Amino acid sequence: MELPFAESYKTKMVETIRKSTREEREEWIRKAKYNLFNLKSEQVFIDLLTDSGTGAMSDKQWSEMMLGDESYAGASSYYKLRDAIREITGFPYFLPTHQGRGAENVLFSAMIKEGNVVPGNAHFDTTKGHIEYRKARAIDCTIDEAFDIEVDYPFKGNIDLNKLRSVLEQYPVEMIPVVIVTITCNSSGGQPVSLENIREVKKLASEYGIPVFFDSARFAENAYFIKIREEGYRDKSIREIVREMFSYADGMTMSSKKDAIVNMGGFVAMNSHILFEQASMYNILFEGYISYGGMSGRDMNALSQGLYEGTEYPYLESRINQVAYLGQNLKDHGIPVQQPFGGHAIFIEASKFLPHIPKEEFIAQTLAVELYLESGVRGVEIGTLLADRDPDTRKNRYPDLEFLRLTIPRRVYSKNHMDYIIAALVNVYNRRNEVKKGLRIIREAAILRHFTVELDRL
Ligand code: F0G
Repeated sequence: MELPFAESYKTKMVETIRKSTREEREEWIRKAKYNLFNLKSEQVFIDLLTDSGTGAMSDKQWSEMMLGDESYAGASSYYKLRDAIREITGFPYFLPTHQGRGAENVLFSAMIKEGNVVPGNAHFDTTKGHIEYRKARAIDCTIDEAFDIEVDYPFKGNIDLNKLRSVLEQYPVEMIPVVIVTITCNSSGGQPVSLENIREVKKLASEYGIPVFFDSARFAENAYFIKIREEGYRDKSIREIVREMFSYADGMTMSSKKDAIVNMGGFVAMNSHILFEQASMYNILFEGYISYGGMSGRDMNALSQGLYEGTEYPYLESRINQVAYLGQNLKDHGIPVQQPFGGHAIFIEASKFLPHIPKEEFIAQTLAVELYLESGVRGVEIGTLLADRDPDTRKNRYPDLEFLRLTIPRRVYSKNHMDYIIAALVNVYNRRNEVKKGLRIIREAAILRHFTVELDRL
């Protein structure tokens, strides 16, 4: 008998989670104004809101916490992190920040000016937010295959080189401070970028003398997909692939809350000493002194350890297989999911799940509420609520894909939890025609409305 797949870790500490009744959930979600961000975590049984900062640290990471050096300047924890970042990414300079968006703020303060354009592959919301806040513009050059959930293309995070070239030709070079490649591309479904594409993007950007930076939150998952999907990489280690990926970048921003498996933290790293000096000023202004930048010494220690663990093949194999197990089972039950399955989450195409609900009634949010009521599972809408209103016309923007994201925290849930989620979604799918109406907005903020929006049932 062939031995089945099994996780490369075991549990040493547990946290109790509580099931609830449908009646309780009806009341809680009504009081939360049908916004899942407003739920208390104890009202949630399985939490798939995000994989950001929700992972389980290892025994080695926890023991590193005890060795943290909390000196303001020159702490050993800073040097430990510097060495880990150098070894794993190859970048000589780095600045710690409190999380990924802190890294974006520091880097973009040094790089991006009003009127600039920043091409990339479906920039993440905070990245786009930091670009637009500076009165610059993010231009999406993702390949078209990314927007058809049924196309089984292995690297749906790739940048379309023709789209990129036309942006580079259309605008003067001085207006394009950087090309940002998001690995993996969260907004298109946790989809990877191939090494071939990374190499070509770097070559093209170099022709115009424009630097390339990676938004690296899920860089290790990207490397795993390169190893198993791209020709010529099967025999390379994850760390070798990671080094090769970063060799085509001039620098990176990092949300350590993802692939470095810590609960809080981030950093920016780069090759240029001049840029490092410019960014240092903003780091001191916004984050903290350059040797801690918003992080405790103990957190930098845990992060250093997390960078090594997050780039080990057996861990990544367990992680990606768990996500794929969920995706495959949903697919086998006819539930429309983005394919191939991404690294950190399964994305359900809600407008194919509930085709009778009009887009004006927030289809993915309606599905998220139904899943919660059915099971206590909390997913997150990546659709019309998140897409927000057009800043000029104030009309709702309707994105190409109306997703419910089921984001899997690292090393947290078991296969039984996955089976529970699958059963819950199959139940909702089987009674989808009973979901007659969607939701309407009763109050919303001017920007980033999805966090605080209040809704009601129609
Ligand atoms: N870049 C990507 C690709 C991200 O997914 C995120 C966060 C960030 C940058 C910002 O990092 O949260 O540490 O400030 N994504 C989370 C998510 C919030 O749920 O996908 P941060």
